[in-house]
Amino acid sequence: MLGTTASPARFPTLRQVYTPVLVGHGEGVPSAPPREIISADAIARRVAELGAEIDARLPPGPLTVVGVLRGAFMFMADLVRAIPREITCDFLGVRSYGDATVSSGVVEITSDLAAPIAGRRVLLVEDIVDTGLTLKYLVDLLQARGPAAVHTCALMAKPAYVAAPTGPALDFVGFEAPDAFVVGYGMDAGQLHRNLPYVGVLDGA
Ligand code: IMP
Ligand code: MG
Repeated sequence: MLGTTASPARFPTLRQVYTPVLVGHGEGVPSAPPREIISADAIARRVAELGAEIDARLPPGPLTVVGVLRGAFMFMADLVRAIPREITCDFLGVRSYGDATVSSGVVEITSDLAAPIAGRRVLLVEDIVDTGLTLKYLVDLLQARGPAAVHTCALMAKPAYVAAPTGPALDFVGFEAPDAFVVGYGMDAGQLHRNLPYVGVLDGA
């Protein structure tokens, strides 16, 4: 009776799904959804452009795309589909020490790559680069394993870092990051809001 079980009631709308996630944030007071600054459509358009740019600029051949968990999971899922070449996907699980909103640059590897990268061309995919301390730590870690090259890509980056990098250069950037803490499309505040399909800011945060 498979055909008769699918009903709208079994598949709630996105708005119905978000509501319970947002309720309980803070002190049990329902909070407003993050204010959208980059729409899902704008993200999709830019990710398609980035994929084409990456494919055009990197020498032909296989690519290992390394996503930084958890923030980059959604971006990476879309990005790899926009790069038309032989790709293997791997992930680095990292946890930053210290305050959730200020980077210390000291990251703990919670989950290592599944496969060696020696001799491989690697594209490291981050969610957002602020001070670049996390990026530097991760690029150093990958370089030490003898890849053919390590390229870097971030969904968002603070303009100051792009203009004058104090760490590894960012080869590919999706969007300029605002001077505010952003959430959504994989990025979190206290582990919430990763599932938003858009990038937003928390008003009053
Ligand atoms: P950085 O080491 O200062 O460049 O910070 C990079 C890391 O901090 C990112 O990989 C994110 O996990 C986190 N981060 C920095 N800014 C934001 C933000 O505005 N929203 C969500 N996460 C952020
Ligand atoms: Mg991150």
